[in-house]
Amino acid sequence: MHEAPTGEPLLLCRSDELAERGTAVVFDVLQWGEAVRAFVLRFDGEVFAYLNRCVHVPTEMDWQPGEFLDSSKEYIMCSIHGAAYEPRTGQIVSGPCSRGRLTRIQVQEREGQVYWFPNRDTKPVQALPSDIEGKA
Ligand code: FES
Repeated sequence: MHEAPTGEPLLLCRSDELAERGTAVVFDVLQWGEAVRAFVLRFDGEVFAYLNRCVHVPTEMDWQPGEFLDSSKEYIMCSIHGAAYEPRTGQIVSGPCSRGRLTRIQVQEREGQVYWFPNRDTKPVQALPSDIEGKA
């Protein structure tokens, strides 16, 4: 589940920066007022974005910067203890936790660009503190 967008779409990257099942583009957001990393990748032609935060322990998951997929390129895999997530939904499929899913960020691809949408919980890093507190 993800929150409904509350703001204007924000430019994230060019479409051609996201190769099919390739390296993700990592970007910064504010989640409940805290700076955290997020990532966007291309899977089966579509783009998907999530917070870079494992369900098991709230830590970053990439093996190398922007490398999230397992060796088969079928799952997002946490580099810490190997939790595997379905790339289209963020749903956990195996690992130390039996349930849960990554926090999704809504994205849109159009005219060769990828945009992300802030929501009640996830805001751009340049958001004013008063804006964050007012909508929390
Ligand atoms: S921190 Fe990701 S599987 Fe443990």
